[in-house]
Amino acid sequence: MLKNKKILIGIGGGIAVYKVAELARMLIKANADVRCIMTGSAREFVTPMTFEALTGNQVHSELFDLTSERQMGHIALARWADAVIIAPATASLLARLAHGIADDLLTTLMQVCTKPMLLAPAMNTSMWESAATQRNMKTLKQRGMHVVGPDKGNLACGEQGAGRLAELHTIYSSLLPLITKQQLHGQRWVINGGPTVESWDSVRILSSRASGKLGAILADLAAIRGANVSFIAGPGTPDTHPKVTRSDIESAEQMLMACEQAATGADVFIGTAAVSDFRFNQPYKEKLKRGGTSSMHIELIVNPDIISHIATMHARPAKVIAFAAESSNHIEYAKAKLQQKHVDAIVANDVSNMSSDKANGWWISNDGKQTIATETKLEFAEQIIKHITEMHI
Ligand SMILES: Cc1cc2nc3c(=O)[nH]c(=O)nc-3n(C[C@H](O)[C@H](O)[C@H](O)COP(=O)(O)O)c2cc1C
Repeated sequence: MLKNKKILIGIGGGIAVYKVAELARMLIKANADVRCIMTGSAREFVTPMTFEALTGNQVHSELFDLTSERQMGHIALARWADAVIIAPATASLLARLAHGIADDLLTTLMQVCTKPMLLAPAMNTSMWESAATQRNMKTLKQRGMHVVGPDKGNLACGEQGAGRLAELHTIYSSLLPLITKQQLHGQRWVINGGPTVESWDSVRILSSRASGKLGAILADLAAIRGANVSFIAGPGTPDTHPKVTRSDIESAEQMLMACEQAATGADVFIGTAAVSDFRFNQPYKEKLKRGGTSSMHIELIVNPDIISHIATMHARPAKVIAFAAESSNHIEYAKAKLQQKHVDAIVANDVSNMSSDKANGWWISNDGKQTIATETKLEFAEQIIKHITEMHI
């Protein structure tokens, strides 16, 4: 997701510096170009060598560095970056930043920089709760700085409370909307995903092999692009971005209720969930015993068709997109479903996509059929969002 993005990490002198090495690696793995500035104090904890080796780029520290200042190093770096993460943001850095003090390379660059800045404070609880730090934070937020954490928990100083550096994946997630064009800002998207589970007795269920990965990725991508996203998730569906409003449900009937409530008047509804077509007519509260029988008759009844319901309900979402996982005649079945279910488009794909990381298929609408030839679920989801945003209804 960070391909070709230039991320500058400003590293302050706190005990959490060692975690920031892993953050740099995480960003590199996501294909970002990462550069680091370390304060003098940060270099007391970890040497620049660690960050140079991880990022493959020189670590900057000195404001009065003749070589880089010939090109105005602090200004060049501020212009170079697409976004800046300050981690750990020490109490001292927050204070200097709030008061416009530019006494080293990092604080000078922070005064110059007009790019999105994400502060990840980390410090002892009393330092965090101090009137000075809290006032500085208020000032910085008012100035439009983005903040992630700190978390509560055990601190390196032996105390317990607020002050831990936010989890690295949370810092990473918080960065994504800051460097992504907010093209879906103001829109409300509702997405469902994963399997549903129908109880037969207190331990046995009827479900499917759906992983929920694609629905979760779509929800994340839409939220990162600025949409207000509600994600209705079946059991086992992966975690979603903190900006996604998530409802976890089990059965098809619960899925229907949650979808109907969220989708009323929405801009987009995407039905990726593998909703069980049937449920048990007579579920049992207790665990069924094998008894002396050699066979058993089970009666299943048909579940509501969620996507058709959403597509035909009062205050229907402006765009309703269904998924059709088939094992053969994909396009033919999908075209039939497009009419039967009154949806605006169908993404046809093979059932083998369901539990794997790969994904490809076809986008089928009344305008025709287009192949989506992708390798990963992330690329597939990106293409689906592109098709949805380009739809004119
Ligand atoms: C062992 C040790 C751990 C420290 N941990 C933190 C910390 O987690 N957060 C913090 O704000 N300051 C911490 N400090 C204090 C900062 O290092 C100190 O305020 C320093 O001036 C910060 O400089 P900088 O903001 O330029 O990096 C620590 C100091 C020491 C000696």
